[in-house]
Amino acid sequence: MPLGEPGGIFYFQRVSIIKVILSFITANGVDTSVSTVILPPTAENIDRAAQALAAGEVVAMPTETVYGLAGVAFDDQALAKIFSTKERPTFDPLIVHLASPEQGSEVTDWVEHLAAWQLIDTGVLSPTARERVQRLASEFWPGPLTLVLPKSPAVPDLATSGLPTVAVRMPRHPVAQALLKAIGQPLAAPSANRFGRISPTSAEHVLTELGGRIELILDGGPCEIGLESTVLAVQAGGELTLLRPGGTPVSAIAAAVGAAVQTRQPSPNSTEAAPASPGLLASHYAPSKPLKILPAAVFDLQPHEVEQVETWLADQRGLGLLLQTGETSAAAQHLRTLLAARSDLAIEVRTLSRTGDTLEAARRLFASLRVLDESPQVTLVLAEPVAGTEGLAHAIADRLRRASAAR
Ligand code: TXA
Ligand code: MG
Repeated sequence: MPLGEPGGIFYFQRVSIIKVILSFITANGVDTSVSTVILPPTAENIDRAAQALAAGEVVAMPTETVYGLAGVAFDDQALAKIFSTKERPTFDPLIVHLASPEQGSEVTDWVEHLAAWQLIDTGVLSPTARERVQRLASEFWPGPLTLVLPKSPAVPDLATSGLPTVAVRMPRHPVAQALLKAIGQPLAAPSANRFGRISPTSAEHVLTELGGRIELILDGGPCEIGLESTVLAVQAGGELTLLRPGGTPVSAIAAAVGAAVQTRQPSPNSTEAAPASPGLLASHYAPSKPLKILPAAVFDLQPHEVEQVETWLADQRGLGLLLQTGETSAAAQHLRTLLAARSDLAIEVRTLSRTGDTLEAARRLFASLRVLDESPQVTLVLAEPVAGTEGLAHAIADRLRRASAAR
């Protein structure tokens, strides 16, 4: 057999050389040829993940909010890998995750605790700021609250995008905690999705997002909260500013500290005293298909609103409908009647919670958006509006607004 024919040695060499070259030529220069495994969170697998982290690798871990792509927070190589794996711009800072204290060893001073981890700079914090951090951490950690605080010089600039502040949280998912304890170092972890896409709330979602790019996904089951943590800036003087609504209600934060929380989001270029949050782009959490928020719930749509929806649907073949509550079949039927002229239109419906349970709605938001986004017949997603100014409803409204801002 000639050596260059199939089966010949040069043939195989050529094929593998082509494969190697191909594996590096991806859309954004990211290697997508890695074989990715989803592993149950056994002690052995957590050890394996910790070893990978110690070697400067990144791994996906479950948290109670969404899955995170973790790397050692003090390791520049790991941080760079987080950004390149996600194709995330480096102006978008990361959240640093911390292990909870061992059972029986209570933290009496959280500010000193964070300083001992070389995360924050205590020098600039006023007594009011210290007291508020103390209250917030003792009340909400471990849990879905991220505090943005003046950073210690030890935290790499890559983790904070060069900002003078660092975002810290203590997740309450037992697998995240086990991994943090096994590695013994804080872990930087953004949501484990490609930049700007829907955050993953299951190990399978992470596989869809980052399969071929990372070696290991620890499977902690579906996320309990399903939306990211609340991000709160505590300024040196103690003023509190909400940077992202999330799993911890703002009213609970205000009640814990006995002070108001500002909810204004200053622009990144702002010179005001309030801190900017460069990652909070209008178009975050975007499905790859366009999403529009309906002017009213399906059963409340007025004739002029139906006309508006019809103009949105002019060039569309299939519609994904995201209900806040209620039965999918009744809503689909009602919409069919309203859009009688468009009998050609495929309609696929998901409901966040049939009974109107906000916890369930939050937990199912990203998974439902993902199903509609991935459905081959859907070309446009329409979401019912949510009147949310508090708690998880506020966070759901925020994520839908960002998803709709994408185009
Ligand atoms: O629930 C969560 O917070 C999840 C899980 C994995 O812990 N993580 C997460 O990370 O949502 P990420 O990277 O998707 O969102 C972090 C956001 C950034 O986009 C940015 O807006 C804000 O937190 N942030 C981080 N550091 C900041 C800082 N120093 N100042 C202001 N905002 C900051
Ligand atoms: Mg994210």
